[in-house]
Amino acid sequence: MSIYLDYNATSPLHPEVLEAMMPFLQNPVGNPSSLHSYGRMARSAVESARAEVAQLVGCDSAAIIFTSGGTEANNMLLKAYLDRSSRRPVISTCIEHPSVLEPLKQLRAEGVQVILLESDCDGRVDLEAARSQIENVDTQMLSVIYANNETGVIQPVEELSAMVDRDICLVHSDATQAIGKLPIDMSRLALDAISFSAHKLRGPQGIGALVVNRKPRQALITGGEQENKRRGGTENVAAIVGLGKAAQIARLEIEHRQHYLTQLRDAFEARLAAIPGSVVFGQSVPRLPNTTYFALPYYHGETLLMELDRSGFALASGSACHSSVTEPSHVLKAMGIDDNLALNAIRVSFGMENSLQDVEQLATRLQQLVDSLPAVIRQAAV
Ligand SMILES: Cc1ncc(COP(=O)(O)O)c(C=O)c1O
Repeated sequence: MSIYLDYNATSPLHPEVLEAMMPFLQNPVGNPSSLHSYGRMARSAVESARAEVAQLVGCDSAAIIFTSGGTEANNMLLKAYLDRSSRRPVISTCIEHPSVLEPLKQLRAEGVQVILLESDCDGRVDLEAARSQIENVDTQMLSVIYANNETGVIQPVEELSAMVDRDICLVHSDATQAIGKLPIDMSRLALDAISFSAHKLRGPQGIGALVVNRKPRQALITGGEQENKRRGGTENVAAIVGLGKAAQIARLEIEHRQHYLTQLRDAFEARLAAIPGSVVFGQSVPRLPNTTYFALPYYHGETLLMELDRSGFALASGSACHSSVTEPSHVLKAMGIDDNLALNAIRVSFGMENSLQDVEQLATRLQQLVDSLPAVIRQAAV
């Protein structure tokens, strides 16, 4: 089996999460809306999980809406909480995940005013530029990714939220990559809403939450009164229980995770520094402890990815493949990275199952690949 180094894409289920879910997968599970004992048991399991999530993110349980993941949560926020008839704009950034950028594109097509803040060359929202874009604007919603999924760069969410009028602007952060890797306390950060997905923090796939302290203008999914009429459809009890357990484990382990993952990332980057011409994007600004987004000037990202896959390492490339045309990442483009270098981008995202030995093996294999290049190419990169 390959060494898995793609935890920002998804992370393996924690054994204790699987254990917590099993009774809800094996035994008859009631519908949480049913009044009989099976239903009441299912309801109680859902509400205990909700309390665990609330404790992890520092919010009131009532603010949590279970969704199918981060994508649905982001869509729900933008489609159910925004006043489309208003002339007041929504402000976001050009380095968001597509689950924010695509709904924003749709809203713009419907006539909603959308302002996208720019990134600086380190992958952080440019605060000076933002000030001039936000100042004197009657913003109805500000949505800023907490930590970017490609670069891992942590965004100045608090500074940006201080630029809007908090009496009239809902402040949201897509915290899908941050939850479980960094402590996120909504009340301390003064956030009105966050989105996230369980499978990024060792919970099951297909479950996540929008946490928001307001009522929707209209529900995104109708036809059921679940989630306090905010998201229709029978709850996925086993997945919600899994999310609750993953949230509990993340809360207890968060400091250890940060410390351990930083150690792996820094050890890898120290080895990478020895490879001529290697670039780590966003290296000089605060980043997720587990993420290294890098490029080697002479290796196309997808070619390197396939070489590494053949050698037993599972990583991600930074480019998007649309109808067999490979495009550089929109995040690297926003950072002003040259397309040729951006097409070489590779993302390593470590997890708690990885070890320093994995780091060592990956770095050694990278070095071997570079050493096997014709000398003329290696010299050109120095
Ligand atoms: C920052 C961010 N937001 C949203 C999502 C979407 O999450 P999901 O695919 O679980 O719906 C992802 C997934 O990679 C992400 O990284």
